[in-house]
Amino acid sequence: MADRILVLDAGTTSTRAMVFGIDGELEAVSQADLTQHYPRPGWVEHDAAEIWEKTLSCMIEAVGDQADRIAAIGITSQRETVVAWDRKTAEPLARAIVWQDRRTAEFCAALKEGGHEPAIQRQTGLLLDPYFSGTKMRWMLDNDEQVRSAAASGRLAFGTVESWLVFKLSGGDHVSDASNASRTMLLALDGARFDEGLCDLLGVPHASLPQVVDTHGQLSATSAQWLGRPVPITGLVGDQQSATIGQGCLSFGETKATYGTGAFVLTNKGSDIPVSDHRLLGTVLHQGGGQRIYAIEGSCFVAGSLIQYLRDQLGLIGNAAETEELARSIEDSGEVVIVPALAGLGAPQWRPDARGVISGLSFASGRAQIARAALEAMAHQTHDLATAFAADGAPWAKLRIDGGMSVNNWMAQDLANILDIEVERPEFVETTALGAAICAAVGAGIYASLEAAAHAMRGNAALFRPHMAKDVREGRLDRYARALGAA
Ligand code: G3P
Repeated sequence: MADRILVLDAGTTSTRAMVFGIDGELEAVSQADLTQHYPRPGWVEHDAAEIWEKTLSCMIEAVGDQADRIAAIGITSQRETVVAWDRKTAEPLARAIVWQDRRTAEFCAALKEGGHEPAIQRQTGLLLDPYFSGTKMRWMLDNDEQVRSAAASGRLAFGTVESWLVFKLSGGDHVSDASNASRTMLLALDGARFDEGLCDLLGVPHASLPQVVDTHGQLSATSAQWLGRPVPITGLVGDQQSATIGQGCLSFGETKATYGTGAFVLTNKGSDIPVSDHRLLGTVLHQGGGQRIYAIEGSCFVAGSLIQYLRDQLGLIGNAAETEELARSIEDSGEVVIVPALAGLGAPQWRPDARGVISGLSFASGRAQIARAALEAMAHQTHDLATAFAADGAPWAKLRIDGGMSVNNWMAQDLANILDIEVERPEFVETTALGAAICAAVGAGIYASLEAAAHAMRGNAALFRPHMAKDVREGRLDRYARALGAA
């Protein structure tokens, strides 16, 4: 009996395959780390062949001898990262340019100077920043001979990571779901297909782009060679939208924050196209039967990667969990403040040129103060977003958190304290994968709606209630605002 959902979760630092029961129970996981290539400062690349090969081997390992029990597949992935491949050979033409990559900053600045940002924002919900896929595609066309000649001969296929995986799994379906497509800067928020005008503006050939499809429905199917028979792919969704669904933020105003490599906050905005006056993003949350639900998003580029930096570059900690002990070992950070602008600043400042700051150092500042300041930075960044969301008419009543870093209880409590609202964390923090399982289950007809699937598949949550004196909170936020000025 086919009663399992296979989820492929192709993230920035690792790729995974997970098998879920239709009650949301996780039954098997296989994970592999991805090589990060940093060929120059500000550049971040992945090998798309490695993404495919590792995802495939994780899939085979997680499924084991249960292939006949897989009813449907859901795929979620890092967003914005661009893969260019040859339609005929299904081989990558160049290294994938990762969402964190800043190489198109000048092109974005030129477009901004040309006065294009307001119209782009109105149409796509996005701002002119190197983060999004469109300018990365243009960079490949301008700088990579293989990509250029594939475009000239009609063999070029562009796609984000979910699109690449579907192409490989299905043996040639070239599709992208609306939630991932809405991060390219080539899709109008109300457009059913990639927009010719935007493609012309960014210099991306429309013919190289995938067909835009729903996030849940009968979207594609694997070729028989991988699992012994064709298995329907019924969920495709960007990882942050997936986490929003996995957190059950399916009603207007409900908000989640994922603390992974970066920190991404999404608030459900229902069926009206979101408009931000405070430099947040409008994005597609999900789409079924062509009907879209939108979200407003604030993206911070550095969250868990700051802790990795303390561990791998500075050698201040041996592992991420140590930060919790260190933070608890002292009363406060001794006025040490970190602005984690190591990859520029995302929302709401959008300053690709900003750089990280550690301020307030004295001879009393040791590892503990710096580790605590790193954790405090998560609450400070999130507070900046909370202010922007409220100003945009989307205040948070409560925040649901997830992602690898959210297991840190000290950080979860600090978020509640600084935001002065309740913070909820599900016992099962793999909400990104769960969201894709929910989409796939609905797409396969196992549940009638995302709400019904979320109700059946989500588990319990822990609550963190705010308890911080107002003057302490304000002191911290003042010091952070001052340090931000120096970033
Ligand atoms: O927009 C980038 C985001 O999708 C990456 O997420 O979880 O791979 O850090 P993650």
